[in-house]
Amino acid sequence: MSLINLFDFPVLGDDRGALVVLEGNHNIPFEIKRVYYIYGTVQGIARGFHAHKTLKQVAICLKGSCRFIMDDGKNKQEVTLASPDKGLLIDSMQWHEMYDFSEGCILMVLADQVYDESDYIREYSTFIEAVNTHVYSSAK
Ligand code: TYD
Repeated sequence: MSLINLFDFPVLGDDRGALVVLEGNHNIPFEIKRVYYIYGTVQGIARGFHAHKTLKQVAICLKGSCRFIMDDGKNKQEVTLASPDKGLLIDSMQWHEMYDFSEGCILMVLADQVYDESDYIREYSTFIEAVNTHVYSSAK
């Protein structure tokens, strides 16, 4: 089973430019409750380093590129996001790290829940323990 679940969003392009539509419960597989974006990243500094107990997210690199490490506690896979018409599913119970942000990178994330710090697992050892004891089951 791949840890890298990428969505290819249709691009409604014409000679005026490109247009991508994101709709909850359509090409985004949940109702969108929150949107945040990351920019002004610093070269050599990675982010993430957590998993969520229940939150599902889709990450879209609107400008530039960045790399993700996705880790389900058993396997790790890496992927580059470099196009605004691609979305990466960050499922619940997927430890993720983002790195190699290009200059001017803008990373937008859609989430199915509002912010809740208690949904985070920020200690890798706690994540591995939760995976091994099936405390939180991923929807897969
Ligand atoms: P965090 O999720 O740790 O960022 P990253 O995964 O990119 O490293 O969030 C950074 C800080 O911002 C942390 O203090 C929590 C806060 N935050 C919110 O208040 N609301 C949000 O929706 C998000 C995503 C983060």
